[in-house]
Amino acid sequence: MLVRIFDVISRSPNLKQLSMKIWYQYLSRLDKDSQIIFMNYGYDFLNPNHKKIKLKDADEKDRYCIQLYSHVAGAVDLRNLNVLEVGCGRGGGSSYLMRYLSPKSVTGIDFSRKAMEFCKRYYHAAGLSFCYGNAESLPFEDRKFDAIVNIESSHCYSSMDNFLGEVARVLRTNGYFLFADFRSREKIDHLRNQLRNSGLKLLKERRITGNVLKSLDSDNKRRSAMIKEKVPKVLRNTFLHFAGAKGTDLYKSFKTGEREYYSFVLQK
Ligand SMILES: C[S@@+](CC[C@H](N)C(=O)[O-])C[C@H]1O[C@@H](n2cnc3c(N)ncnc32)[C@H](O)[C@@H]1O
Repeated sequence: MLVRIFDVISRSPNLKQLSMKIWYQYLSRLDKDSQIIFMNYGYDFLNPNHKKIKLKDADEKDRYCIQLYSHVAGAVDLRNLNVLEVGCGRGGGSSYLMRYLSPKSVTGIDFSRKAMEFCKRYYHAAGLSFCYGNAESLPFEDRKFDAIVNIESSHCYSSMDNFLGEVARVLRTNGYFLFADFRSREKIDHLRNQLRNSGLKLLKERRITGNVLKSLDSDNKRRSAMIKEKVPKVLRNTFLHFAGAKGTDLYKSFKTGEREYYSFVLQK
């Protein structure tokens, strides 16, 4: 029922933004013991012999979510660059970028105040900072960043074109936009056109739905257990749906190709 309400709401851009804000604020509230620092569907390698990325023990539980960051942000060399992550959520990705990919700085921004309060309290690494703000009107001067990372957040925005305008504005010349998200199958061509019309060069595109599905399979037990532990019973099925748990309509939509997940590399 709630899933259907979200579905109807998300057809109106303004209501979509409001409902997403309420949803992510609530999610942040549920996680009393700071276990949820990633909120993406993750990425797993289709070839079981693929060399695993090396992670510290404490990061192992978030392996699949981190592998999505590694796939998207690892496409270019971020060493010594000033990186902005838009829609950073609970900061696990920004922290990963700072600790593993050696940029000069990472600034995470999100429109969930609760998530930003959490990040400011939880992370203490030199060069890593967080601020509240909207992807569609970024509170930064022109050409401030060398690279922008954006993972599984853009489907929430009321206007993708506004966001892309902001990306083009705050990126320096030759800077990179490293982007991944899902869309319903019929909206993928539209997304590709929006990227092509953004003024940035589209350097690379990959359909990664299979990798995301594999991650949802590999990580299903952990995700479902966490929801069972944290979410009140009446909301559990809705959370399982949005978490892409096996058997939910969202999971099935990736399986049938009704929804597709893509990653892109663009350059200004
Ligand atoms: C699915 S979560 C992904 C978070 C993070 N990228 C990750 O992979 O863990 C989507 C995030 O986008 C944020 N978001 C949605 N719309 C936004 C907007 N207009 N401006 C800034 N952040 C937004 C949400 O608050 C949420 O934290």
